[in-house]
Amino acid sequence: MSNSVGKHSYGEFGDRKEELVRSERLAFTGRIAASIAHEIRNPLGNVSMSVQQLKKGCAPDSPWVKHIEVITRNTERINFLITELLNCARPPKLNIKPHDIHEVLESVLDSVRTKIVSQHVKVHKKLNAELSIINVDNEQIKRVFSNVMINAVESMPEKGEMTIVTENDRDNFILKIKDTGGGIPEEDIIRIFDPFFSTKSSGVGLGLSICYGIVVSHDGTIAVESKPYYGTIFTISLPIK
Ligand SMILES: Nc1ncnc2c1ncn2[C@@H]1O[C@H](COP(=O)(O)OP(=O)(O)O)[C@@H](O)[C@H]1O
Ligand SMILES: [Mg+2]
Repeated sequence: MSNSVGKHSYGEFGDRKEELVRSERLAFTGRIAASIAHEIRNPLGNVSMSVQQLKKGCAPDSPWVKHIEVITRNTERINFLITELLNCARPPKLNIKPHDIHEVLESVLDSVRTKIVSQHVKVHKKLNAELSIINVDNEQIKRVFSNVMINAVESMPEKGEMTIVTENDRDNFILKIKDTGGGIPEEDIIRIFDPFFSTKSSGVGLGLSICYGIVVSHDGTIAVESKPYYGTIFTISLPIK
């Protein structure tokens, strides 16, 4: 089962018609999500300000303090979710510069090392791309790689193998992140890029929609292929301009 989104597609993911429908649907979902998020922001700001005033007027030993803290914590959480949602609907303005993607990958691997080690995941690297210096927004592209790698590691809670493959075709730098985890059921694969779709008990479900927004803003594509009980391959393709 596979699913591919972005401006263009290639190889085994080349069903252009399905891809266009998917991109439009995502753009529509993103616009609705962004307008809802925007509308929630103002009243939420008012709640935060009023709670701060309440806190000021409360004696430190008052029984109300703990309720005020609950409200503060939850308004902060909603604010965080809304900001993430707005970011995935409209990724921030890109700061594009040439970067060696192989170095970027090494630094992302370092940052997820603890999780990799604690879950006994073995990492294989096949960095075969000859042309790996690409114009990207370093911070944003790191976010994409780290979201996809963390998902891969989370799909292998006991142990497993993650393989990072890079290659070039004529116009693109291609990265594949493969895992030997539980895979994605056929009925879920169409929904994994939707905001707030998550099958994890503590998942937010914004990781892949953020990845989608960032990759598309780089004129790239992100595709997924998965076999339940066997594993998943995410393929990110970025144009060499
Ligand atoms: N490598 C993977 N293996 C299995 N399932 C995956 C993988 N990557 C993503 N998924 C599925 O896609 C869902 C959405 O992922 P994401 O947007 O990153 O949100 P979250 O990680 O917070 O759940 C996950 O909850 C999971 O069901
Ligand atoms: Mg995730």
